[in-house]
Amino acid sequence: MASDAKLMHAIWYDSYGGGAAALKRVETPVPTPQNDEVLIKLEASSINPIDFKVQNGLLRPIAPSKFPFIPVTDIAGEVVKLGSDIKKFKTGDKVVAKLQDMSGGGLAEYAVAKENLTVARPPEVSMDAAALVTAGLTALQALTESALLKLDKNYPEANVLITAASGGVGHYAVQLAKLGNIHVTATCGARNFDFVKNLGADEVIDYKTPEGAAVISPSGRKYDAVINCTTGISWSTFEPQLKENGTVVDLTPGAGTLANFALKTLTFSKKKVVPFLANCRCENLEYLVTMVKQGKVKSMIDSKYPFSKAEDAWTKIMSGHAVGKIIIEYS
Ligand SMILES: NC(=O)c1ccc[n+]([C@@H]2O[C@H](COP(=O)([O-])OP(=O)(O)OC[C@H]3O[C@@H](n4cnc5c(N)ncnc54)[C@H](OP(=O)(O)O)[C@@H]3O)[C@@H](O)[C@H]2O)c1
Repeated sequence: MASDAKLMHAIWYDSYGGGAAALKRVETPVPTPQNDEVLIKLEASSINPIDFKVQNGLLRPIAPSKFPFIPVTDIAGEVVKLGSDIKKFKTGDKVVAKLQDMSGGGLAEYAVAKENLTVARPPEVSMDAAALVTAGLTALQALTESALLKLDKNYPEANVLITAASGGVGHYAVQLAKLGNIHVTATCGARNFDFVKNLGADEVIDYKTPEGAAVISPSGRKYDAVINCTTGISWSTFEPQLKENGTVVDLTPGAGTLANFALKTLTFSKKKVVPFLANCRCENLEYLVTMVKQGKVKSMIDSKYPFSKAEDAWTKIMSGHAVGKIIIEYS
């Protein structure tokens, strides 16, 4: 990373593991944008489970690409410097951006983002738009590209199950599915029933009850698709609840899902499980920003932390009990 002489505050870690206690506060040079990058002064970043999973070595040796590593990829802020090839932005533009998983950079006062992963943020869309990036893109991609549902259609006959609907991904998935008038069954803890119903879910089941654990729709519906935002539910649990051509989109695929996917593909099975890998595309992020601007999708915020308390945000996301999204603010 080339650098200006100017320094910024940042938080990094320099080895795997250790949770929040391993985060170190440093002063480090403000990064210099490459030709196809913009330098962004951060207003907010949003934290995701993948951030602590990378710290724990999930993507070793791909990410982090090197130590020390400044984590977090979802940011909102203002463009303050342009790479030489930048056409889409000027300094002063408010934006939301996805930083690259390998290089991170979002837990700092400034970050460089690729122009093709950066989207303009209209005045109606606050810095909370940082929350949209990984979670919103995942929900959108899982519904439209993995489950092949079209959100601009009217789908009253389609049923979708969204597990962990109170979480970052799940809470966007419920709202997006309702844009297509899809019937949504959602799982969450009993404490979050009202939260998830208010997002638009048609029926909710407590994942701690036998019916919830069996993902049985209270109205007896079978599912066209499951957006599985949690872990620990087996194929043998999902399978009887699927329609003939039903698909389980597994956001956290383990070896069992991968083997099952291969088997179902080889045997041309109508019911199938699809392992999911997020792929950030600008047009999808633009769509989400537009939905927020039009008031059709809301980012529900679990909690906001000033940058001075970012370690507490890290501990919170590691707890697995966030309701909606976690935001870190820079001032
Ligand atoms: N493959 C990819 O590219 C990709 C992309 C994005 C996310 N993901 C993965 O998708 C998963 C979800 O991400 P997220 O950001 O939504 O996580 P999150 O915000 O941390 O999810 C937390 C929520 O999940 C609920 N929850 C936990 N266990 C549950 C269960 N068994 N049944 C129902 N609800 C449960 C919690 O409710 P309680 O407090 O009541 O337990 C909490 O509200 C993570 O594993 C993440 O790594 C994968």
